[in-house]
Amino acid sequence: MKRTGILTATLILAGASLQAIVPATPSEKAKMDKFISELMAKMTLEEKLGQLNLPPSDDIVTGQTINSNIGAAVARGEVGGTFNIKGAQKIHELQKVAVEKSRLGIPLLIGMDVIHGYETVFPIPLALSCTWDIAGIENSARIAANEMSAGGICWTFSPMVDISRDPRWGRMSEGSGEDPYLGSVIAEAMVRGYQGKDLSAKDNVMACTKHFALYGASEAGRDYNTVDMSRYRMYNEYFPPYKAAVDAGTGSVMSSFNLVDGIPATENKWLLSDVLRDQWNFGGFVVTDYGSIGEIVVHGLESLPEASVRSLKAGTDMDMCAFGFIGTLKKSLEEGKITMAEIDTAVRRILEAKYKLGLFENPYKYNDVKREKKDIYTPEHRAEARRLATESFVLLKNENNLLPIEKKGKIALIGPMGDSRKNMAGTWSVAAVHDNYKSLKEGLEDALKGKAELLYAKGSNLYADPKLEAACTVFGHDMRDPRSEEELLAEALKVADEADVILAAIGEASESAGESSSRTELTLPDTQQRLLETLLATGKPVVMINFSGRPTVLTWEAEHVPAILNVWFGGSEAADAIADVVFGDVSPSGKLTASMPYNVGQIPVYYNHFNTGRPKIENNPDFQKYRSNYIDAPNEPLYPFGYGLSYTTFDYNGFTLDSNEMTADGKIKASINVTNTGNREGREIVQLYIRDIQGSVARPIKELKHFESVTLAPGETKTIEFTVTPDDLKFYNYDLDFVAEPGEFQIMVGPDSRNLQSLPFTLK
Ligand code: BGC
Repeated sequence: MKRTGILTATLILAGASLQAIVPATPSEKAKMDKFISELMAKMTLEEKLGQLNLPPSDDIVTGQTINSNIGAAVARGEVGGTFNIKGAQKIHELQKVAVEKSRLGIPLLIGMDVIHGYETVFPIPLALSCTWDIAGIENSARIAANEMSAGGICWTFSPMVDISRDPRWGRMSEGSGEDPYLGSVIAEAMVRGYQGKDLSAKDNVMACTKHFALYGASEAGRDYNTVDMSRYRMYNEYFPPYKAAVDAGTGSVMSSFNLVDGIPATENKWLLSDVLRDQWNFGGFVVTDYGSIGEIVVHGLESLPEASVRSLKAGTDMDMCAFGFIGTLKKSLEEGKITMAEIDTAVRRILEAKYKLGLFENPYKYNDVKREKKDIYTPEHRAEARRLATESFVLLKNENNLLPIEKKGKIALIGPMGDSRKNMAGTWSVAAVHDNYKSLKEGLEDALKGKAELLYAKGSNLYADPKLEAACTVFGHDMRDPRSEEELLAEALKVADEADVILAAIGEASESAGESSSRTELTLPDTQQRLLETLLATGKPVVMINFSGRPTVLTWEAEHVPAILNVWFGGSEAADAIADVVFGDVSPSGKLTASMPYNVGQIPVYYNHFNTGRPKIENNPDFQKYRSNYIDAPNEPLYPFGYGLSYTTFDYNGFTLDSNEMTADGKIKASINVTNTGNREGREIVQLYIRDIQGSVARPIKELKHFESVTLAPGETKTIEFTVTPDDLKFYNYDLDFVAEPGEFQIMVGPDSRNLQSLPFTLK
C-alpha cells in the first residue's frame, strides 16, 4: 500500500524528538554559557538594553548604511536586530557596522516576514493548509529558509499558528484554519522546515511562532480587537498549535496584540512565563509584535515606562519598534522597579539565539551574494511551489463535470483577477518580485498555445466604489480600470458572445485579506456579482475561479454557477498551477481547513462545536422551535471543514475496528477501503474523527485526530488503516489536567467532516 500524508508526518514527528538544536550536549551548552557570560561581563547597561531593541530598518540605501538612522544606532550598540530589509549586500553592510563599528561587535539578528516563501512564493498559509500535504508544507518552509538565508535573513516571523473561526478576520489567510490538530501538525512541520536539524547551518533560519496567543479570536473578526475566552477553550482549542511549535523547538515566539484575561499578551506573565516557560519548557526568546509595548498605553493600562517594566517582568525579551525597553528601562532600574538580573535574563536569551545561529562564529554567513544569485527562485523551487499550489485549490462544485476544460476552441477569461501579476502571490509576500510572476491570463495563454484561443476582458472593477477598492489594493497593487462599469461589462459581453466557455476570474484582491483587512460582508463585491450574473445569463458554461484570502460566502454561486474552483492566492506560480487544474493536467485534491459559511450571521461556524442541550434534530431541515437553530438559515456551513471534490470520485466501504474496547495502554486499529470509482487518477484525503460521548466537561461533537492522503488509479482500492490510542482521546479537563476519561467513544471516518461513517468503542 502506498502510504503518504500521515505516515510521512509520523516519521517526521518521530524525527522531531531527535532534532538537535545546537548546543545539543551539556558540554556544548556549557561552552555557550561561558561565552555569553564572558561577553555579558563586558557589556554596559546601555549595550544590554541595545540587545533587547528591535527597531524598524528604515530605507537603507546601499553604500549609505552608516549614514542611515539605523546604521548610526547600530554603531552605538543600541540595536539587537532589525527586519524586512531585502538584499544580501545591504544586509552585509549593516552587519559590518555592527561587527566593526559597535564597541563589542555583537552581530545583528536580521528578520523578515517570510510567511509563505521568499521570492519563490508558495500559496498563502490558509491555502497551503488545504493541501493537507505535511511533507510538502515542511518542504515549502525548507525552500523559504534556503532562499531567505541566501538573501541575508536569519530569522523569519513565521509560522503564524493562530486558530481562527472567523473569516471576517483578514488574517485567517496567514494561518492554517480552524482545527487544532491539523494546525499543530502544520506548526511542527513549518518549524522543522525553517530550522532544520542544526540552526547553525548556513541555510537554516530561526522560526518565530506567532502570535502568542489567541489573536485569531479577535471579537467580531475586527483586527486587533479584544479577545476573552475560558481556559478550557484556550487549552483545548487555541493553544495546541503554539505548544506543538514549542515542542518542535521554535527558537522564538512573538506575543500578540490582543488582551488575554484583560491583560495585553505582551505583559501577561501568566501567558509568557507560567504557560510558555514553566508548563511548556520554552527555551528561546519572546519578541513583541510591532509596537505592542506602546499599545499597552493605548489599551488603557499604564504609561510606557510602566508597560516596559511589566512586559520585561512578564517574560518579554525583545521590544519590536516601541522603544520602551531602550528608552525607559535604565531609569526603571535606577528606581528599583526592575533588577539587573531581569535584564540579564532577557539579554542572555537574545545572545543565545545569535550563538545558536552561528553568528558569533561568522556574522556574515548569511551574506553570500553568490548564493543569493544562485539559490533564489530556482526552477526546482518554482516547480514545488506550482505543485503545492495545484494541491491547495479546492473544487467546491462541478456540475456535469464541466471541469476540466478541454484545450480547444475559444475560451474566455473574464474578471478583474484575470490579468494582474501583482494580485497573484497573496498577502505578506514581502520579498516577492511580482513582475517575474505570470498573471492568470499569461499562464492560461502559455498552456493553450497552439491548441486553443484565449479571449480576455476585465469585465468589472473590484468594487464599484473606488475608495473600497483602494483599501484592498494597497502597497502599489492598484488595478483600477478608468473605464465605466458599463463599458467594462459591454466589452465582457462581446467577448463572452464569441466564446465556447467562460472562466470568471473573480473574488477578493490579495490585500482584501491579511493584516488590517477585516470585512463584514463576505459575498462577492457588487460589480463582480453583476458581472457574474450577466455572464450566466448568456447561457454559456461558466466556471468561477474564486480568488480569496479567507473562506468567503458563496451561497448564491453554489446555487447558480455550475463549477466553482477556489484558488485562494496561490503564490508566484499560481497562474501555471491554475492552468494545470482547469485544463485537467492535475486533478484538484485540496480540502477546506475552515468552514465556508452559509452567511455572515452564522459566524463563528466550525465543525468541532459542542452539542448544546438542545441540538437541532438531524435530517430535518425545517426550523425547530426551542431547539438551537436559526429561523432563516441552516446551522451547517455551506461547505464544511475537510470538504473538496476531485475530477474523480471515491467510495468508502468496509469500515471496521479490530476491537470495540481499548485499555488504558492499548490501541484500536480502524480500517476502511477507499476505491477510486471514477476514470482518472486522484488524490484523496481520508479523515478520522473521534467523539467522546460523555465527559466530565462538555466535549465537541467530533474532533479530527488522524488523516491520510492516498493516490488511487481508476478502479484501484486501498485499505487505509489508522491506529487510535488513548493519547488521541486526551483533553484538558476542568482542572486543566490532560486526561483520557474511560467511557464510550465513536470513531468516524470519511472524506470530510460532514460525510462520516461511525463505529463505537469503549475506553476501559
Ligand atoms: C504583524 C506581525 C509581523 C510584524 C512585523 C505586525 O504588524 O502583526 O505579524 O510579524 O508586524 O512585520
